[in-house]
Amino acid sequence: MTDKIKIVGFTGSLRRHSFNEAALRAAQLLLPENAELNIISLADLPFFNEDVEAEGMPAAVAKFREQLAAADAVLISTPEYNYSIPPALKNALDWASRGDNPPLYGKPAAIMSVSAGMLGGARVQYHLRQVCVSLNLFPLNQPEVFIAAAHTKFDASGNLVDEQAKKLIAKLLAALVAKVAR
Ligand SMILES: Cc1cc2nc3c(=O)[nH]c(=O)nc-3n(C[C@H](O)[C@H](O)[C@H](O)COP(=O)(O)O)c2cc1C
Repeated sequence: MTDKIKIVGFTGSLRRHSFNEAALRAAQLLLPENAELNIISLADLPFFNEDVEAEGMPAAVAKFREQLAAADAVLISTPEYNYSIPPALKNALDWASRGDNPPLYGKPAAIMSVSAGMLGGARVQYHLRQVCVSLNLFPLNQPEVFIAAAHTKFDASGNLVDEQAKKLIAKLLAALVAKVAR
């Protein structure tokens, strides 16, 4: 039996009832059969500081980098904060960009955003795509997955109930897995 394609997923939201984390859980149910999605938390990562880095990667950072290194591809689901990238996500990407063998270098990535607003996080995605250039992380261009008005797309238990959003996420994951397979 061949090994499954390993995707690591994380969100820029640290919120307990995050819609973006709920979208990652929905993605676990929409994956192609030959892939698996490991959702990891960014909550334990300290704020990036070059002085701390010089003393050695903190344990939480080392673990995070190992989890990224073990993956074939990345799935990021993020809210938009003030038209841009939430600090927890930018901080995590900054840690990932450093040191020998940056673990995201050259990997394929899929981006989605879930927002309370009507644009679904369109602005954060373009800022995030700019940061990907610096990390040499390769985000898929399409399909673009913007889930707007989040409170209308998930039920009270955090299940994604919007069929259009489910279809788009499934399409995004299929494209990501096809990219890895190529
Ligand atoms: C500091 C802050 C800034 C925000 N700025 C935006 C914004 O620029 N655009 C937007 O669509 N939503 C914005 N929101 C609302 C988020 O879309 C909403 O809180 C969303 O539920 C966050 O995602 P989560 O449920 O995964 O935590 C902001 C929320 C916070 C806390």
